Amino acid sequence: MKKEVILLVLGMSCMLSACSKEKELQVNEVIPEYIFTYAENQPDDYPTTKGAYRFSELVEKRTQGRIRIQIKAGGELGSEQSVIEQLQFGGIDFARVSLSPLGEKIPKLNILQMPYLYVNSRHMWSVLEGEIGDEFLESFQGSNMIALSWYDAGARSFYSSKKPIERIADMRGMKIRVQESSLMERMVELLGAEPVPLEYSEVYSAFQTGQIDAAENNWPSYESMNHVEVAEYMTLDEHTRIPEVQLASQVTWDKLSKEDQDIIRKCAEESARYERLLWKDRAQQAEEAAKRKGCTIIILEEAEKARFKEAVAPIYQEFYEEYQDIIDRITEVGLVIKNERGKTS
Ligand code: GCU
Repeated sequence: MKKEVILLVLGMSCMLSACSKEKELQVNEVIPEYIFTYAENQPDDYPTTKGAYRFSELVEKRTQGRIRIQIKAGGELGSEQSVIEQLQFGGIDFARVSLSPLGEKIPKLNILQMPYLYVNSRHMWSVLEGEIGDEFLESFQGSNMIALSWYDAGARSFYSSKKPIERIADMRGMKIRVQESSLMERMVELLGAEPVPLEYSEVYSAFQTGQIDAAENNWPSYESMNHVEVAEYMTLDEHTRIPEVQLASQVTWDKLSKEDQDIIRKCAEESARYERLLWKDRAQQAEEAAKRKGCTIIILEEAEKARFKEAVAPIYQEFYEEYQDIIDRITEVGLVIKNERGKTS
């Protein structure tokens, strides 16, 4: 009799625990309707990657677990060029990429990264967040990619391994790594150097083997990829600001309902606001960390900076005469910002 009671209790408790497990499964392990991939070529603790994780969390939460986005960081899914191609045929669902390689597919995007286009970061953001930015997001139409939101990537400067760049003349004959972009190649040629297009992950070893003497990027990239170890001279010329963009593959997008598309867009925009906040702090921290690791900073004199600007000026004619009206509109936004600054200072 005693034995039977024990068995009964055991049986009931088994049933109860199975039941509560099932409940747990229902809450935490909703079987997703979609599992998507998201490519990011920066390491896990980088602002754009943290933005990607925030995006994925928001989407999962707001779709009650129906849509799961798996972040593949650190360039796991390949170079930016190949990520863009995979997005176009649906092999990758989402990504964050630099605008530079995208300019090869959608030439109009090069306008947003012309050298010395913006007076400062505020100028770039006023452009991107206004009507002009929306027009550029629309320029993805027909590319098999959907542009979701803009991410920050600060200003880019040159850094070199063997000798510092103190004057434009120091660049003559230097082999300088550029992104896979004809605009960037031409810019470096106009500065008197030899462009070496390479993907991001190859820059460190290219310095080591002597394939390149210099490269250019923002503080967080320079620091997080440890380029300071192989190229200690950072010349703060800030020749360009290259915005980044979160993208969806058109193939993926077309599978989703209008409601899900709206959720995803909103989450991308929210994640972009978060990334911009992170960016500010990270840029400063990266500069300090690079200095601690032995980076020598070269500040160009105003007259020298003007020479850099003058040397690359022909690129505007060569690349974008037909888009002069947009360039004028962007310049006008800069003038308003300059005037405001003048009034407050
Ligand atoms: C930045 C950008 C990367 C890009 C890299 C590059 O770091 O965030 O997406 O690949 O520049 O110079 O290639």
